[in-house]
Amino acid sequence: MIAVFLGPPGAGKGTQSAKLIRDLGFRKIATGDLLRAARQAGTELGDAARRYMDAGELVPDEVIVALVEETLGGFPADAPILFDGFPRTLPQARALDDALARTGRAVERVVVLDVPEQVVLRRIGGRRISPNGRVYNIHDDPPRVDGVCDETGEPLIHRKDDRPQTILRRLRVYEAQTEPIIAYYEEGAPPVARLDGMQGIEETYRSVRAALRRMPAGETEPRCNGTK
Ligand code: AP5
Repeated sequence: MIAVFLGPPGAGKGTQSAKLIRDLGFRKIATGDLLRAARQAGTELGDAARRYMDAGELVPDEVIVALVEETLGGFPADAPILFDGFPRTLPQARALDDALARTGRAVERVVVLDVPEQVVLRRIGGRRISPNGRVYNIHDDPPRVDGVCDETGEPLIHRKDDRPQTILRRLRVYEAQTEPIIAYYEEGAPPVARLDGMQGIEETYRSVRAALRRMPAGETEPRCNGTK
């Protein structure tokens, strides 16, 4: 299974993919996480990405595609893979199709989390992250002790690109450069499920699991396009 998660910043892609990895053993390629790790490690890539990320702009396609291809190359050929935050532009989507085709694979599911802008602003404003990657929200999913990770006891981090002005820029970039990918996938082969990301974390997770299993649409189930 190769699945792609799409949705605006703060839609809950990272939250949902962490649960899928825990429960279903997916390997994850989350380009934002890879870039933040490169920044933390002080690599050339991390330094180059910094100014784009802090401004809410996309890192150039060629940098991202090379990073993804390198990461993909380290996975077993038949590993189930979840892409979170990639692809983000049409050239990235086409590059992913080409890279997968070289190993006889293809994107099999696309899940889009739809969340309105006001909710995104609240969610991102309240997001706090543990150095171990666990994501919290001071409004909806707080740690037991304010500012401290439940699992590691380390101080939680407020991402630099989660400031209000940068969030608005990231939203505009998503609309202009990433939303067109939804139509690209809808015109292609993989089933595209557009889910209501306004549900709680657990309800959303049930919808995501159903979408990955291609369950038939129901009142609270996803609308799947092109599913058989
Ligand atoms: P990236 O790290 O990918 O950020 P993003 O796509 O903007 O997504 P976020 O991580 O902000 O949100 P999310 O959807 O994962 O939400 P989360 O689960 O955390 O990218 C950062 C930057 O890197 C980009 O701006 C760009 O510069 C660069 N970059 C990355 N990939 C790139 C690429 N492919 N090409 C070029 N540049 C690239 O949830 C958010 C909050 O809401 C959390 O606090 C969570 O607890 C809460 N929450 C989640 N779900 C719910 C729910 N259902 N109800 C209530 N609260 C919820």
